[in-house]
Amino acid sequence: MLVLAIDQGTTNTKALIVDETGHIHAHAATPSRTDYPHPGWAEQSATAIWEDTRSVMDAVAAQAGGRSIDAIAISNQRETIVAWDAQTGKPVGPAILWQCRRTAPECAALIAAGHNDAVELATGLGINPMFPASKLAWIINNRPGARQLAEQGRLRAGTVDSWLLWNLTDGAVFATDHSNASRTQLFDTSTLAWSETLAEIFGTPTACLPQPLASDARFGETAAGVTGLPAGIPIHAMMGDSHAALYGHGVRAPGTVKATYGTGSSLMTLTPKRTASAHGLSGTIAWTDTSGTAYALEGNILVSAQAASFMANLLGIGDARALSDLARTVDTSDGVTFVPALSGLAAPHWNDHATGTVAGMTHGTTPAHVARATFEAIAMQIADVFEAMQSDVGLTLDGLRTDGGASSNEFLMQLQSDLLQCPVESAVVEEVSALGAAAMAFGALGATWRADTRSKHFDPAMEPAAAAALRATWQDAIRRACS
Ligand code: G3P
Repeated sequence: MLVLAIDQGTTNTKALIVDETGHIHAHAATPSRTDYPHPGWAEQSATAIWEDTRSVMDAVAAQAGGRSIDAIAISNQRETIVAWDAQTGKPVGPAILWQCRRTAPECAALIAAGHNDAVELATGLGINPMFPASKLAWIINNRPGARQLAEQGRLRAGTVDSWLLWNLTDGAVFATDHSNASRTQLFDTSTLAWSETLAEIFGTPTACLPQPLASDARFGETAAGVTGLPAGIPIHAMMGDSHAALYGHGVRAPGTVKATYGTGSSLMTLTPKRTASAHGLSGTIAWTDTSGTAYALEGNILVSAQAASFMANLLGIGDARALSDLARTVDTSDGVTFVPALSGLAAPHWNDHATGTVAGMTHGTTPAHVARATFEAIAMQIADVFEAMQSDVGLTLDGLRTDGGASSNEFLMQLQSDLLQCPVESAVVEEVSALGAAAMAFGALGATWRADTRSKHFDPAMEPAAAAALRATWQDAIRRACS
């Protein structure tokens, strides 16, 4: 069997064709353009998101040379919202990206009015401009024609999965999956339904929102002529990309954490039940399928692998790879810490005012110590979220599965295992999110997913006492960066 899996991300749109052993038969990618029309704003053309998706789908279909595709799976950037007119199919302005902070004042006002607890209780998410709820209100209040379309029942608003599904089915299906819905801040994650109470708080209608379905639902079928693919192929999985990555790593039960090392980092772990974090994490739906609802905790780090390119630039030594080579030349950072709070700190510390700090330097400090401290910082931030997860879940989390660009850096992965004092497995393929969505679709088709995405195994090589001492120095540095 073959599944065509789409990974519509913020920086690239990818497609691959994969069989149930995980063998990739075709692969295509195209970069995305993001516009920043005002400070703090971030947008992408909704039309381009669909056109890019169509072009990579056509490219992999051509590579597959006419072999039939059994299903389509979608993994997508989350929290980005698209609004469109159901009658014309035209977007009502650009997609507003998850990164966009245009509704920061509205969110601050809602928090000041005391709404945060109710929102967090229903959704697991603290009020924040990242989530679509306040963005949808902004669209209705600010985009010409949006309010009238809503009043006429013609406005459709959804995350990227809904937009792609609507286009793939030529307007026949308007739906989303529970993992994407759980990131909108309008979805009650205990009742699995849009919440009128939340909609009222944010000032949005719910009539323009898609039908929420299980992540492995048969969402619809490809319509004739919208892509080069034949009509009638079922779209059989949709998942937010972090959720799909967790699934792609083969995590099906609590106990293991996945970490994606990109510009920032996202960590996610399954929880035995719906869990509210007491340690600065978000509660979310991982996915829903025939076995029910899988709940998760997530923690996001703003500056992760990007810390290495930042420091390489600052030291004038080329790129992150050169910094890594330099870092390996010393066995310790000799007391130096670097907290890369370059735009504040997110999970689990949540301090908008924290600033980047290098501490602990002496006459003996060399660029190599600072380089090593940078890689320690990447691993330390992951360890902070990992430990917060462990406290929230109340279980010993016994392993970390990693993906994303920097997960191929063996020096960093060993450091990660040392500082966490637990095994780390890095992924063999880059496309863990797409593979996760594909795995979900294979399950829906009744096929058994037999791929193993694990590539390299790292066990702790550092003495526990040495790791604990480094962790304590790091916590001091965090306090300093936040003061
Ligand atoms: O929460 C936003 C996230 O889903 C975006 O992921 O891979 O497109 O940067 P990515």
